Amino acid sequence: MQKKVGVFYFSGTGNTEIIVNALGNELIKSGNKIEIIRIEDILKDNVYFDVNSYDLIGICYPIHAFNAPGIVFDFIKKLPRVKDKYTFIIKNAGSNFLKGGSTTIIKNKLIAKGYDLFNESLILMPSNIFTKYPDELSKQLYLTSIKKVNRVVREILNGKMRRQKNSAMLTLFTRIVSFFEGIGAPLFGKDLKVNDNCASCNKCVKNCPRGNIRMEGLKVKFGMRCMACLRCIYRCPQGSIKPTLFKFAVFKDGYNLQGIIDNPEIKGEYITRDSNGKYKEFYNYIFNED
Ligand SMILES: Cc1cc2nc3c(=O)[nH]c(=O)nc-3n(C[C@H](O)[C@H](O)[C@H](O)COP(=O)(O)O)c2cc1C
Ligand code: SF4
Ligand code: SF4
Repeated sequence: MQKKVGVFYFSGTGNTEIIVNALGNELIKSGNKIEIIRIEDILKDNVYFDVNSYDLIGICYPIHAFNAPGIVFDFIKKLPRVKDKYTFIIKNAGSNFLKGGSTTIIKNKLIAKGYDLFNESLILMPSNIFTKYPDELSKQLYLTSIKKVNRVVREILNGKMRRQKNSAMLTLFTRIVSFFEGIGAPLFGKDLKVNDNCASCNKCVKNCPRGNIRMEGLKVKFGMRCMACLRCIYRCPQGSIKPTLFKFAVFKDGYNLQGIIDNPEIKGEYITRDSNGKYKEFYNYIFNED
């Protein structure tokens, strides 16, 4: 039977969006309907949606400090109460260290509003912070993500349960790290500086998911609502926005997974059976069908 799926997502720098688009393609291919909505547009009151019109709800987001970004929790606050609405999440992260954190916090918030979180997946994507992955590995993670998305689609359409096991310790750890990230992110935003190459094009102002950037005359100014999503830094056409204290966190030459996907010379054959060293941890993830 055809299902109508509503997918709500946040993506700072494009990885989650790539996953969500793959999810949409696969659902349509299998004869279903999908509506994809950006969480930031909902929070800016720019879109209307009716949760009750969906058979299934999906929430997709990048891991920020072992948890969903605050904007996802703001969205959940805004969701109406429902009765037993089948819900899945796809979280994505640069590594599977500690499973990307506990999902108990988000699960409890959803359950409290009547959303039955029956399927949870972690998809690994290139990290957009601290350590830049080799292009070949980034492409391989992208290609693998398509297979994982297809697996998610099969499962959610068949109502298969997949719940992450979260120990009390992992949940406590997630709460603590997340708390400090909540304090650190606005400071990260205050640390951003704009150099003289800025063309005052306003793109960063329009694109900031938190409405944290404004123009004062021709000058770009940052407020205290930053969530450290890195979008303004990597999407500025002039490469003008840089952190000063936190410069170690971002990639000097930018981050653009779509460019890697579109480059036919990058084959995505980085990890093999014989791989050793730094990125070996990805082997099981990439070659495991699950
Ligand atoms: C502020 C911030 C915190 C992050 N924290 C983690 C983390 O705790 N674990 C992890 O594996 N990746 C972490 N990442 C990496 C992202 O989860 C990953 O690159 C994701 O695919 C980015 O998705 P997006 O492009 O949709 O924003 C973090 C990224 C940012 C910007
Ligand atoms: S996007 Fe870049 S060039 Fe455009 S206003 Fe912002 S900082 Fe300046
Ligand atoms: S100021 Fe930049 S990093 Fe902070 S939330 Fe806005 S776009 Fe993201």
